[in-house]
Amino acid sequence: MNTLPTTALELRSLVQADGTLQLSLESVPVPTPGADQVLIQMQAAPINPSDIGLLLGPADLSTVEVTGSPDRPVATARIPEPAMLRLAPRIGESMPVGNEGAGLVVAAGSSPAAQALLGRTVAAIGGAMYSQYRLMPAAQCLPLPADTTAAEGASCFVNPLTSLGMVETMKREGHTALVHTAAASNLGQMLNKVCQKDGIGLVNIVRRPEQAQLLRDLGAKYVCDSSAPGFLEDLTNALADTGATIAFDATGGPLAGQILQCMETAISRNAKEYSRYGSAVHKQVYLYGQLDPRPVEIHRNFGMAWSVGGWLLFPFLHKIGNEAAQVLRARVASELKTTFASHYARTVSLAGALSAENIAFYGARNTGAKVLIDPSI
Ligand SMILES: NC(=O)c1ccc[n+]([C@@H]2O[C@H](COP(=O)([O-])OP(=O)(O)OC[C@H]3O[C@@H](n4cnc5c(N)ncnc54)[C@H](OP(=O)(O)O)[C@@H]3O)[C@@H](O)[C@H]2O)c1
Repeated sequence: MNTLPTTALELRSLVQADGTLQLSLESVPVPTPGADQVLIQMQAAPINPSDIGLLLGPADLSTVEVTGSPDRPVATARIPEPAMLRLAPRIGESMPVGNEGAGLVVAAGSSPAAQALLGRTVAAIGGAMYSQYRLMPAAQCLPLPADTTAAEGASCFVNPLTSLGMVETMKREGHTALVHTAAASNLGQMLNKVCQKDGIGLVNIVRRPEQAQLLRDLGAKYVCDSSAPGFLEDLTNALADTGATIAFDATGGPLAGQILQCMETAISRNAKEYSRYGSAVHKQVYLYGQLDPRPVEIHRNFGMAWSVGGWLLFPFLHKIGNEAAQVLRARVASELKTTFASHYARTVSLAGALSAENIAFYGARNTGAKVLIDPSI
C-alpha cells in the first residue's frame, strides 16, 4: 500500500460576518486511526439537497464568483441580508460538508474489526465526506459487496433508508397508502420501486409533465402534476382510489394544505352522514424537505382530525430502535443495485465542485441533476 500523505484537502463552507458565503478546499492533517478506527480514501460522495442546504445555505447563486487556482478554487456568493439573521450560529465557523459517501479503507487500527476492513471498499455516513480522507469508527462502516463500486454504494444511507422509513411510518401509524411530493426525485424513484414491489398504494405529486412521464415509465399508477389545470381533482381521485391518508412533502408552500383538503374531500365522498367537525379519519402530512422556500400555507377546511409535523431520518431510526433499523439497512444492502440504485448526471473532483458552472447545476436541485464528488481525482 502506498505511503499516505500527511495532509489532504477537505471542502469547507464558511459564512462570514459581512454576508459572504465562501467555499474552499482546506488542507487538514491526515489522521492515524485509533484501535477501532479506519481511514477511508474517499472516492464517491453525492451532493444531496440536505448537503446543498449546508454547502450553499441561502446564498444568492446569481452572485457566485470563483477566484484562487484551478487546484484550490475559492467560490464566494452573497447571502441576502434577512437570511443572515438565521445564520448567526454559523458565522465564522468553517464547516466540513457531505453527509454520506464511500471509498477504500487505506489504514486501519489494531482491533480485529478495523483490520478486517483494510483494503475493502466501504460506505459511511457521518458528515465531512467531501474530503480526500475520512476517519471513521470501524463499526460504523458498511463493507460493500466485492462487485459494488464506491460510486454504486455512495448513496446507500440517506435516500434508501428515508424511502423505507416513509413506508414504515405509514404502517406504524395505521395508514395503508401514502402521498409523496417532488416525487420524481432520486428518493421518489426509489419509493416508487419499493411501493410497487410491496404492493403499497402511492400517489406521486410532481410539478412538470416530463416528471409525470418519467414516473409513469417507471410503472407508477398515480401521478398528479401540480402544474396541470385539473390538479386538485386528479389528486382527490387518486386519494379516493388509494385511500392514502398520510403524505410526505419535500416542498413547502401550498401543497401540504392542498393535500389535506383533497384527503378530506376524498374521505367525505363515501361518508354516510354529515359532521360539522369534518371526518373522523386522521390525516397526516409530514414536511421532510424544504425545496420550496415559501411559507407553508394551510387554509383549514378539512375538519379537525389532522396534523402536520416534521420528519427526519435519524430521529426516526432512533425511535424504531436498532433491531428494526437493522432490518431496513439489510434490505438496502440486498437491493442496492436495483431498488436503491442512484443515478448521477456528473462526477466532479473536489475542485470541480467549486466551479461556477457546477454550483449552478447542482444548486438548482433539478430532477436527474444529482452530482457525485470523487475526492480522489
Ligand atoms: N427529512 C429527511 O430525513 C430526508 C432524507 C432524505 C432526503 N430528504 C429530502 O428529500 C428530497 C428529495 O431528495 P433527493 O436527493 O431525492 O432529491 P433530487 O434527486 O436532487 O431531486 C430533487 C427534486 O426536487 C424537485 N424540486 C426542486 N425544487 C422544487 C420546488 N421548489 N418545488 C417542487 N419540486 C422541487 C426537483 O424537480 P424539478 O426538476 O422540477 O426541479 C427534483 O425532482 C429533498 O428535499 C431532501 O432534502 C429528506
